[in-house]
Parts: sequence; C-alpha cells; structure tokens
Amino acid sequence: MSQPVIFILLGPNLNMLGIREPHIYGYETIQDIEKMCRKEAESYGFDIEFKQSNHEGDLVTWIQDALNKARGLIINAAAYTHTSVAIYDALKMLEGKVSVVEVHHSNPKERESFRHVSYVEPHAFAHFAGHGARGYAMGIAALAERLGIEK
Ligand code: DQA
Repeated sequence: MSQPVIFILLGPNLNMLGIREPHIYGYETIQDIEKMCRKEAESYGFDIEFKQSNHEGDLVTWIQDALNKARGLIINAAAYTHTSVAIYDALKMLEGKVSVVEVHHSNPKERESFRHVSYVEPHAFAHFAGHGARGYAMGIAALAERLGIEK
C-alpha cells in the first residue's frame, strides 16, 4: 500500500525565514525546515509535499489539490491567515476529508490586533503557535495521532 501523503503549505514571506525578523521567526531557513519535516514525516511513514508561495491563489490551488491527494494538511498561511476568505473557503472543502493543522512560528494572538483573526483556525483540529520551527514537527505528530499512525 502507498504511504499516506501530507501537504505542508507555507505562505508569503516565509521563503525569507532565517533573514526575516529572526528574533520573531527564528534563524532556521525554509530549507532547514523542509529537511526537518522530511525527517519527522519519514519516521511516521508519511510522504510529504512541502510548498511555499507568496501568492494567495497558489495556496488555494494546493489546498484544492489536497482534497484528492492528501490525508492531512499543515498550513502556515502567514499574513493571508488574517485576510484570506479564499483560503477559508478552500479549507472548508476539506472538512471531514483532510485533517488540517494550523502552524505559526510566533503567537499572532500576542501581537498586533490585526493578527488576532485567523481564517484558518475554524478548519484546523490542532494549532501550534509560538513554538518556532518546531511547530511543524508538532503538527506532523498531531496528524499521525489523529490518523492512528505510530512511529
Ligand atoms: C506568521 C504570523 C503572521 O502574522 C505573519 O504575517 C507571518 C508569519 C508566523 O509564522 O508567526 O508572516 O504566520
């Protein structure tokens, strides 16, 4: 049987991790994070698709793709978290079909008020915010538990 697939989707400006406000987002680059996710996913026998885009429509298309391809989806929609009804609508289509985890490096609820709203939050069964890059590994573990998969 083929390995279960999980999507890990990162939104705008996260390609600049390591350079961008490292005191908030950490010193790991996106390449470091992808490597760490691949290692963690492998330990559960997951196949991962790891993607980043600065464009809202790319994220919407990838969320739609998850419907037919993925068992789980981890998303850090970055700034689009707080603005995107399109991402909200796309994630709604996954309800009852693909388990969603919301990840943020920082804790947006402790920052400026415009970051307090999340259009991802209502669709996610688990949320990891403020744990830096470790949040993605925590998301993979949460998905494994949800899907009844052990290391
Ligand atoms: C972020 C938090 C968002 O508010 C911000 O726009 C980001 C990154 C985080 O990972 O902490 O770009 O999603």
